[in-house]
Amino acid sequence: MIKAVIFDLDGVLVTTDELHYRAWKQLAAEEGIKGFTKEDNIRQRGVSRMASLEVLLEKSDKKYSDEEKLALADRKNNIYVRSLAGLDRSAVLDGVFEFIDHIKSMGIKTAVGSASKNTPMILEKTGLAALFDAVSCGLDTQNSKPDPEVFLIAADKLGIPYKNCLVIEDSDAGIQAAKAGGMLALAVGAAKNNPHADYSAESLADSCILRERHYTGIL
Ligand code: BG6
Ligand code: MG
Repeated sequence: MIKAVIFDLDGVLVTTDELHYRAWKQLAAEEGIKGFTKEDNIRQRGVSRMASLEVLLEKSDKKYSDEEKLALADRKNNIYVRSLAGLDRSAVLDGVFEFIDHIKSMGIKTAVGSASKNTPMILEKTGLAALFDAVSCGLDTQNSKPDPEVFLIAADKLGIPYKNCLVIEDSDAGIQAAKAGGMLALAVGAAKNNPHADYSAESLADSCILRERHYTGIL
């Protein structure tokens, strides 16, 4: 039985996944790194800022020191945070508010489990913050997805056993993390074909999640 739903942030609740991609693209252009694509960006989903940087640097001939890597990650974050300046409720993905209303009306707890250290700011700007009983993010963790830590912390904050949690994710790393934590996983968006997920859907606005057997079967 599902007693809590733990939502990933970027690409599940809000459209910021696209802004991450554009910020990495800009950094790549500034550094003269060629051939960084949307496919590379799919592997950046769910993982930490430094792990995302490593994906970009696979496309670079230059060897960067640890110090230079930290500086690159900071530059990307500055580009990204600047792009969040006008972020508001319109960045919330279709179906999110309805989905959360629906599960709350069923007495199900809600949490966010995201690798992003920008999570609190994004939740505030988009008007989502008040909808969650707990938030666990890159500011709370030592290990990034596919390690389950971020989801375990979310479940612990809620006081719900791991086996009663459903994680909603758009990344392969996040699906692996949920399963490693003994939780159920619903894959959406970029991860919708992940074979390890328990359930999959195009998005939270997908009518079969909200209204039909598939959805009621989960909850
Ligand atoms: C995840 C994104 O949610 O957060 C990753 O999917 C990103 O692509 C990671 O690298 C870390 O985000 P931030 O905002 O701390 O750089
Ligand atoms: Mg995501």
